[in-house]
Amino acid sequence: MTNPIYIDQKEILKRLKQPDKHTHKGIQGHALIIGGSYGKIGAVSLSSKAALKTGCGLVTVFIPKCGYDILQISIPEVMVLTDNQEKSISNITFDITPQAIGIGPGLGQAVETQNALHQFLKTNKTPLVIDADALNILSQNKEWFSLVPPKTILTPHPKELERLIGKWHFEEEKMNKAISFSKQHEIIIVMKGAPTQIIDGKTFYENTTGNAALATAGTGDVLTGMITSLLAQAYEPISAAILGVYLHGLTADIALPETGYQSFIASDVIANIGKAFL
Ligand code: APR
Ligand code: MG
Repeated sequence: MTNPIYIDQKEILKRLKQPDKHTHKGIQGHALIIGGSYGKIGAVSLSSKAALKTGCGLVTVFIPKCGYDILQISIPEVMVLTDNQEKSISNITFDITPQAIGIGPGLGQAVETQNALHQFLKTNKTPLVIDADALNILSQNKEWFSLVPPKTILTPHPKELERLIGKWHFEEEKMNKAISFSKQHEIIIVMKGAPTQIIDGKTFYENTTGNAALATAGTGDVLTGMITSLLAQAYEPISAAILGVYLHGLTADIALPETGYQSFIASDVIANIGKAFL
């Protein structure tokens, strides 16, 4: 196993673009977050708010009908498209042209949602971040990976990774399986954990920020929004993954002296994205 490239401040400063003072929201990137199901609309709220706070100009969500009021009231900056169904997504159609799509937070695995994901993958050409239940559905239908665009970013936590690449017994076996999976499908895998590692087929990166305060509900949904936002801002997929993971971890390092490990929640990641950029 090769040594990792550490994702530290030097690596980030190499990749981070400075904002152009003549930019406007129309060219700052439009991110679409697809997800949510009855009782898990919060995952999309977290993800879409994180996308906005990471710098893209526009954010739209595609959610089941039951989330409409929740999203419109809780995040006025976000535009909302709804599925025809009340409690879960059944047919992903939209007439917008986002530069990046994040799919999976709070999605659930209803049969109609699985079909909707399959149909969506058949026609989608937009750069993608795939997380949570969208990953779990793909793990049960691995032949659908042929429909996933090259350089798609997957963001599995350890259990989701195991469903994707199979069980491993030691670290080197995990890395070898992840590398061959990422090569086979030409995708980027963000293996979330402590520390988070990123594989892009040949190179292996390891993050240096973050702490155990992140072990709390919804922090992964926030990461999906952050990476999708960076992808929408025309970062190369590998840079979007690296910057997203580093900034996400840094928010927890910044907040820790105020929140301690116990009271840090996913919304504290979002609240500290600005400081992380600074
Ligand atoms: N140290 C550093 N980072 C950590 C630690 C730790 N001890 N524990 C967790 N993290 C980070 C991970 O690296 C990752 O970025 O917190 C994030 C947790 O992400 P998820 O496991 O996806 O958590 P969550 O957002 O709650 O997931 C929400 O999606 O994956 C599904 O089943 C999951 O339904 C759940 C939903
Ligand atoms: Mg998750």
